Amino acid sequence: MGIVRDDEVARYKNWKNNYQFFGAPVAVFLCLDTSLTDWSLFDLGMFADSLMLSAKAHGLDSAPAASSVSYPHHIRKLLDIPENQKIIVGIMIGYADPEHPYNQYISCRVPVEEVAHFRGK
Ligand SMILES: Cc1cc2nc3c(=O)[nH]c(=O)nc-3n(C[C@H](O)[C@H](O)[C@H](O)COP(=O)(O)O)c2cc1C
Repeated sequence: MGIVRDDEVARYKNWKNNYQFFGAPVAVFLCLDTSLTDWSLFDLGMFADSLMLSAKAHGLDSAPAASSVSYPHHIRKLLDIPENQKIIVGIMIGYADPEHPYNQYISCRVPVEEVAHFRGK
């Protein structure tokens, strides 16, 4: 974003984008029933991944944003989410602006060999 680390004002202004859901027209909030164990977070993560891939297959872009659930009590009230549903994460869905600086940054990936080890016979 061209913001230097100690420019608190610019950083705060930029961070506000998080609370405006990056301008996305749709926000999906994924919740877990409180009766479930932590294991279900794995299922929810897989569900989130499938949701984003499915959105892509339909020509939509998405971005998971933990910041969107920073104030869960507001979301709960606004969307009438029952107390037995724990709000875990929000996923913004819309059409990415390829010109936006956020979308100019391509993060690197470590080579497969660093995260997977293959053993032959
Ligand atoms: C669970 C999760 C929560 C995230 N929360 C935020 C967030 O609150 N704010 C943000 O700017 N990026 C957040 N990100 C990162 C962006 O969504 C990120 O741009 C996206 O994962 C693409 O990553 P990549 O550049 O490595 O492909 C989050 C990512 C994940 C997986």
